[in-house]
Amino acid sequence: MKDELTVIMPLCPERAKRERINGILTQVFANCPQAEVIEHAADLRPLHGRRILFAVVLGESGVNLEYYAMLKQIRLQPDMFTDCLGALLVDGWSELYTKSVARELVFAANRSGCAFIGRPLVEGTGSLQNFHVLAQLQATDEFTAYQNAAADLVQRLFGQPTLPPARRIAAIHASSHRTSNTLGLWQLVQQRFTTDQGFDIREINLRNGAVADCSGCPYTMCLHFGERGGCFYGGVMVEDVEPAIEWCDALLLLCPNYNDALSANLTAFVNRLTALFRRRRFYDKRLYAIVVSGYSGSDIVAGQLIAALNMNKTFFLPARFAMTETANDAGSVLRLPGIGARAAAFADRIVTGC
Ligand SMILES: Cc1cc2nc3c(=O)[nH]c(=O)nc-3n(C[C@H](O)[C@H](O)[C@H](O)COP(=O)(O)O)c2cc1C
Repeated sequence: MKDELTVIMPLCPERAKRERINGILTQVFANCPQAEVIEHAADLRPLHGRRILFAVVLGESGVNLEYYAMLKQIRLQPDMFTDCLGALLVDGWSELYTKSVARELVFAANRSGCAFIGRPLVEGTGSLQNFHVLAQLQATDEFTAYQNAAADLVQRLFGQPTLPPARRIAAIHASSHRTSNTLGLWQLVQQRFTTDQGFDIREINLRNGAVADCSGCPYTMCLHFGERGGCFYGGVMVEDVEPAIEWCDALLLLCPNYNDALSANLTAFVNRLTALFRRRRFYDKRLYAIVVSGYSGSDIVAGQLIAALNMNKTFFLPARFAMTETANDAGSVLRLPGIGARAAAFADRIVTGC
């Protein structure tokens, strides 16, 4: 990958709304004077092997029309960002929309070939209340904490080491083997992995009720249990899942769409990961997913994974991290036209790491 930075910054026509993000980016441009800036959808073209900083200004409405013109192109161009590595800044004038726009943009760019570093988002809400704690810790004001976070983001974008292709995979699910389309698809994908390629797979079934949801202990209590390698609840999460996450170099989540969200057991898994997160970060681990919806909405489930595990919990997001399919009747996913080729392509991306 080249050490070149492209800043994709859809132009907001109202100058006042651009001022804050321009202030945030001053330091970034001072450190990368050669950075190319793309402000108009008409100038967006396929970019290969570059580091990309998406910088999106949202007004109070959360709508930036030039951003939507770009999003349209990104969604229609599956190779827009081949071998690119991304991070993003989203600046808003209200308390809403920064996260949802970021999640949607990461999902689209990832499908077009862009990998994302762990914790790739720095967002500024209207009030900058989201920097309140960080500003206190740094004994500074919220705007300076925001600037510092943006500078750190770009440093991490350039400092990201190349992760070797994953060989130790922790596959987590909570489905029944007999009927699940999602597990059927995983079995098809898995056939491409062979032991002589060095693959080692730990498959963990979080059976109904095995993982109680996070009880939301106070921070110090969570830290106390986490530092001793445990959690208030203990159980399968501490005995099997956490060791598998520490051991793996890729986490693969097998996700049926339940009411346009992860199933309760998988959500509990993500929430309970907080105890392990107190002890270590996951920047060095890849995140993959297989998502199956009966009708529609796989993008919402994949977006939930991006927000929870890549943006919050720091997992690295490889290009095209999720295989998404639509199938309802038991076993029907395996009869979809072209499913064998798509499963093979997904497996090959895991094998090669690209
Ligand atoms: C509780 C529950 C909720 C569901 N909600 C949705 C939904 O919101 N949207 C959808 O497309 N499919 C929904 N489905 C269908 C599944 O996504 C579908 O069966 C798919 O094949 C994956 O599930 P499976 O791996 O268990 O077969 C739901 C299924 C269940 C059991």
